[in-house]
Amino acid sequence: MSHADRSTLQPVHLPEGWTPASWRGRPAKQQPSYPDAGVLADVQDELRALPPLVTSWEIMALKQQLTEAQEGRRFLLQGGDCAENFSDCSPDVISNRLKVLLQMSLVLVHGMRLPVVRVGRFAGQYAKPRSADMETRDGVTLPSYRGDMVNAPAFDAQARTPDPRRMVKAHARSAMTMNFVRSLIDGGFADLHHPEYWDLRWVGHSPLASEYQSMVSGIGDAVRFMETLSGTSVHNLNRVDFYTSHEALLLPYEEAQTRQVPRQWGWFNLSTHFPWIGMRTAALDGAHLEYFRGIRNPVAVKIGPSVTPDQLLALVDVLNPDDEPGRLSLIHRMGAAHVAEKLPPLLDAIRRDGRRVLWICDPMHGNTEATSNGYKTRRFRNIRSEIEQSFDIHAAAGTRLGGVHLELTGEDVTECTGGARDLSDRDLERAYRSTVDPRLNYEQALETAMLIVRKWSLAGATPA
Ligand code: PEP
Ligand code: CO
Repeated sequence: MSHADRSTLQPVHLPEGWTPASWRGRPAKQQPSYPDAGVLADVQDELRALPPLVTSWEIMALKQQLTEAQEGRRFLLQGGDCAENFSDCSPDVISNRLKVLLQMSLVLVHGMRLPVVRVGRFAGQYAKPRSADMETRDGVTLPSYRGDMVNAPAFDAQARTPDPRRMVKAHARSAMTMNFVRSLIDGGFADLHHPEYWDLRWVGHSPLASEYQSMVSGIGDAVRFMETLSGTSVHNLNRVDFYTSHEALLLPYEEAQTRQVPRQWGWFNLSTHFPWIGMRTAALDGAHLEYFRGIRNPVAVKIGPSVTPDQLLALVDVLNPDDEPGRLSLIHRMGAAHVAEKLPPLLDAIRRDGRRVLWICDPMHGNTEATSNGYKTRRFRNIRSEIEQSFDIHAAAGTRLGGVHLELTGEDVTECTGGARDLSDRDLERAYRSTVDPRLNYEQALETAMLIVRKWSLAGATPA
């Protein structure tokens, strides 16, 4: 029996002193203050009684895929909105985002000759960390907007008062999103037999379109060739695995979704497959680390430029004391200007200590800047540079970059500048829709996937 099989049946390590509520004994950053504790408790009870959004066996299957990514046998693509909002829970937004993620994964599979772990930043990405608890405009001070799961963005007292009932709505929206994604995939949305489904809409006149189109028809030919050769149809090609992730920021929500299931030891967060801890809530003695150490999901932590090697090793000890494969991913987000200085000491520390982690590059959050015309943007060249530098830095350190974490949308927005069509600061005025961070648009997202493949091939990266 393999280690993975054994670990599903009997405890490897039951975390001492942990309960789904033990985080309450630690300082919890980035939590709203709810005016009515009674309503909050009622909402938690309601959430506990509702069906979960994911199952423990899906979670264990993802952990296995992440183990393979750690070992260089897969590559992870994690992407979606910075924040979902309730009004974007619509068929077009969901299917366009799924489509761009599937098309990117097709590019990666084809170019890297590796299976891809597909993880969406969706179906629960409704809570946001903020740099200040309060916001003042024209002498009026109100609580900051913390995502649709907490309050509403309009600047008035009613909209900004945190309302626990929004958690129930977020749970329902997440369930609707999951349901639609699962139906699209089951219904053949990702069927490789129909390459015309992989069409490019407005990206059609991009310089990259012909490269992409010839790849898609090449894949169609390969499928037909295999089927002719074997005399049977290749069944599994119309099914892909798709997993969900979000920043597990709002702890009362996450606690209420933490459950035990039959024939498995321990506790699972069943609101998502792959929760992560944001950079602002990764304190060693904080409530988020306490909560995360006890759940059996694979977990990720965002690592920013201020983390030291000692802090990182301590964090790994808390989150993965048994060095369980697939359990822990580290998402570095240093910025193109800092990654060459900040990343190598962290890679060295983990390698020297022989710890098993999956390294993921988030080239978005260290590269946010303001334009002179008042937009929050990211330059495509910086995003590209952080990814490319990361591949090189890992290669030099003897570690492996096993995935990317991106903020993107399937819509034709203009939020990040540059890319094949060279969007300028002036273009941002045309279609800037994000209420939080700027996202790669459809074309920039696909271009990113192609550039990853190009870098990978140039580096001669082969699975170890
Ligand atoms: C995010 O992923 O949207 C985010 C806030 O990231 P970070 O915690 O890395 O700043
Ligand atoms: Co963001």
